[in-house]
Amino acid sequence: MISYFCKNTGMQIVPTDDGSDTLYVPEINEHYHSVFGAITESDWVFIRSGLQFSHQPENISVFEVGFGTGLNALLACNWAITHNRQISYYTIEKFPIPMDIIGRLNFTDCLPAIPGATDLFHTMHRSPWNEIVHLHPRFSMQKIQGDMTIYNQDSYHDVVFFDAFSPDRQPEMWTTEIFRKLYDHMHSGGVLTTYCVKGLVKRRLKEAGFTIEKLPGPPGKREILRAVK
Ligand SMILES: C[S@@+](CC[C@H](N)C(=O)[O-])C[C@H]1O[C@@H](n2cnc3c(N)ncnc32)[C@H](O)[C@@H]1O
Repeated sequence: MISYFCKNTGMQIVPTDDGSDTLYVPEINEHYHSVFGAITESDWVFIRSGLQFSHQPENISVFEVGFGTGLNALLACNWAITHNRQISYYTIEKFPIPMDIIGRLNFTDCLPAIPGATDLFHTMHRSPWNEIVHLHPRFSMQKIQGDMTIYNQDSYHDVVFFDAFSPDRQPEMWTTEIFRKLYDHMHSGGVLTTYCVKGLVKRRLKEAGFTIEKLPGPPGKREILRAVK
């Protein structure tokens, strides 16, 4: 059931099994999140398996590949606030989503425990690209408008959320070169998580230097990957 169709992009807002929305992109026949639950998946793969696993006690630096709807960023901000931690969040996006779509996503309705979540979420999206913005005393963010395949990182991170479209749709994002670039810009002990456990992804992460482990996945997905530097 489509709740919104964006004429300019062709993207559709569709509900997932946990009640939270995701986006469907007909052009590549792919959703932004799992249809078995967008929030459930993001929370499982990136927050619980990545962020929560990080042993960094002070300011945690997170780098996300694919800002998209901002769901991972919103959940990370919520985690920082509720766990009394400090996060510097960096995220790269090549194709920012128009605000008419963002304004219709129901993520914050599904997260009633976050005070002022809707304002925070919209401010996150309206904030300027390529500048560090302090969205909350516990959460700063730099949205980088750019292409990960040619981006030269200049900061070092404790946690990487690797959330590109699947290797079938976007093979250029799952290369040893990109994984190595991420590895080289992570602190020792840093953690990368991703929803994809394909053989080629595991092989390339190892080639880049990571130690990998498979973890149980969220509903609808048997396993996910965690890679540690
Ligand atoms: C699976 S979606 C990400 C979902 C996102 N993390 C969220 O919470 O909504 C993949 C994202 O990667 C972005 N992307 C695709 N190619 C890219 C590139 N070369 N560089 C940076 N981002 C890219 C897409 O536009 C899309 O937003």
